Order: sequence, then C-alpha cells, then structure tokens
Amino acid sequence: PSASGKGVTSRRLAQMLGLLTVDTGAMYRTLAWHCLRMKVDVNDDKKVAALCRKWKTSLVVADGHVRLLVDGYYPATEIRTSEASAAVAHVAQIRAVRDWMKAKQRECIQFGSLVMEGRDIGSNIFPETDYKFFLDASPEVRKFRRERDGVKEDVHARDKRDSQRAHSPLMPSLGAMIIDNSHQVVQETCDIMLEELNVRRKANRLAPLKPVA
Ligand code: DC
Repeated sequence: PSASGKGVTSRRLAQMLGLLTVDTGAMYRTLAWHCLRMKVDVNDDKKVAALCRKWKTSLVVADGHVRLLVDGYYPATEIRTSEASAAVAHVAQIRAVRDWMKAKQRECIQFGSLVMEGRDIGSNIFPETDYKFFLDASPEVRKFRRERDGVKEDVHARDKRDSQRAHSPLMPSLGAMIIDNSHQVVQETCDIMLEELNVRRKANRLAPLKPVA
C-alpha cells in the first residue's frame, strides 16, 4: 500500500545487492501525467487506452533504475504532483493500461536481475518468481509518513480504489513474505528480506546473495 516503505526499501535492497530497481508506480504515474498534458480525461477509459496504445515510450537504465521515458523524457518531478497522484489510480484500473504495463514491465528483464516494486508484481507481473515480499505498515504509521513527507493526499481513498479494482487489485500474492515494517528502520527490513531471499535460494539450490554495499 501507499507509504508502506516499498520505494525506499526496494531501492536500498537493490543497492545492497548491486541490482537495478524498477518503480512500476512511476510508470503508471507517467501515463497519468501524459493524459493530463494531452488533455485526455483520466475517467474516460477508452480515450486513456487509445493514448496508451500510441504514446512514444522507451525503457532505459539510469543511475541503477530502469526508467520509462515518454518522447525521450523522464518526468521525475511532474509525476509526483497532487494532480498526477489524484489521476493515477483512475488510469491504473483500466484493463488495457494494465495489459500494456504488464508487457512493458516484463520487458525489463532484458536489463538483468531486478528489484521490481509495485502492487501486483508477485501476483500478476512475475507470478513465477519465488522471491516475493508484501510490505505493510499500520494506517497510523502510513499517515504519519505521508504527512512527514509533506504529501497532502487522501491515501486511504487511493488504497481503497487500488484494493477494490477489478483488475490486479492490491493484495499479498501467493508465496509472498508479509512484512509489517511499522516499527522497523529501512535497513532492518532489508536485512530480513535478504535473509529470506537466501532461505528461498537455498531451497532452489542457489548460492546465497552477499551484500555488496
Ligand atoms: O507506488 P505509487 O504510489 O507511485 O503508485 C501510483 C499508483 O499506481 C497507485 O495508486 C496504484 C498504481 N499502481 C498499480 O496499480 N500497480 C503497480 N504495479 C504500481 C502502481
């Protein structure tokens, strides 16, 4: 869910292991921002789907992250505005958009091993992986984190929309380790994740991963 720490935790874990990260929320936000600037109503599923079919995108690696560019541009700050945040849950519930994102997100493996972060990665994008985690925190802690970050947004409303949508709703996927990090610092969560990763790798007869940073 929102403010569960998934972004900061996945970035730290990837840094520890020398892997790339993929922030899939940023991909949905980029489409929401593109709709806003192209004056496409985000509540009009057909128009959003049509825009998504024809926008000019590319995947690139920059600073350890896989990024989705639109017209060669990564809208880093624009996708974090309150307008983009309000628009994103609408575009994210459209079936055609989710299908497009799924194909794009699966293409990311062309860059090698990844820490991919998002609400449906274990359940829908890479259901075949054994290495899944579902991060959560109490509603009070999540509200506190959002306010501390200066974000004024009805996070509860967005989580509700994300959880109740018909296509790939937010939920822990089968086989995911569920971690409540309400009272953990990021490094503690990453250490728990690395330990679990290595338990699962051992079960798959793979060598343990060692931190590089
Ligand atoms: O993680 P975030 O707040 O940047 O995500 C923005 C929105 O995108 C969120 O409201 C739900 C949607 N999203 C999704 O539906 N599936 C994903 N894999 C990632 C994000």
